[in-house]
Amino acid sequence: MKIFKDKHTLQKEILKTKGISFVPTMGGLHKGHISLIKKSKKFQFKTLVSIFVNPKQFNKKSDFRSYPRTTKTDLKKLKKLKINYLYIPSFKDIYGFKPKKKVFLDKFSEKLCGRFRRGHFEGVLNVVNRFLEIIKPKYIFLGKKDYQQLYLIKKHIEKRKIKSKIIECETIRENNGVAFSTRNSNLDKNQIKIASNIYYYLRKLKKKIKKNYNFFNLNKIKKDLKDLGVSKIDYLENYNTKNFKKIKRQGKKFNLFIAYYIKNVRLIDNI
Ligand code: PAF
Repeated sequence: MKIFKDKHTLQKEILKTKGISFVPTMGGLHKGHISLIKKSKKFQFKTLVSIFVNPKQFNKKSDFRSYPRTTKTDLKKLKKLKINYLYIPSFKDIYGFKPKKKVFLDKFSEKLCGRFRRGHFEGVLNVVNRFLEIIKPKYIFLGKKDYQQLYLIKKHIEKRKIKSKIIECETIRENNGVAFSTRNSNLDKNQIKIASNIYYYLRKLKKKIKKNYNFFNLNKIKKDLKDLGVSKIDYLENYNTKNFKKIKRQGKKFNLFIAYYIKNVRLIDNI
């Protein structure tokens, strides 16, 4: 595994290879990331993983500060996975140049997390746009857990005619149903149990709504979630994941999208 901290040295190395499969991360590597990396390794190109905790996508300084950083163990995991390249840039390496393409921010950025984390998606697209320009990957691997992020990156790539192809990867869950997330490390055992109960509650709820739309009764659902131990709910909404239209009757394909807090830890999921 070759490690790069500077984009010019990285580019010298990778632009002579046939192509790159790119897995962007903010570190705090867990089984979700590992599955993206394993998938990437099955493709014909060399795998490049980036670790960069992007300050521009945090709408609160305290959240940026408390975001888990586990570089030492991340390095061990990546070495074991035998990835080809690791890129750990500084802030200046990423933000010290003007990208050729402007960020395209689809209107869907105003929904769901966009309503509660002002500037979050601008920050995500800003950094991803820069990574795409530096690395010019053939493929970029993104998880469906952050479905809204995935959709917005897809729209940006389409609109700006960028040649990288997104490989959409399934959400990886613990045996107890909780989706792997770097933020889970801020939860204690009891809080993990709450997150697990919420997952099973939502799965059951989805089945009921499929049969009878009247079960999408937000007041009752919010009360149930609070009773299960949720401290605050940012949103609970249903969307068709292909076109991001809301469903209004039973029998339609949809996912339930949720962002909620257990104490001060914010979790998102879609089921
Ligand atoms: O999903 C993430 O970890 C981040 O939003 C990403 C795509 C690495 C951009 O910072």
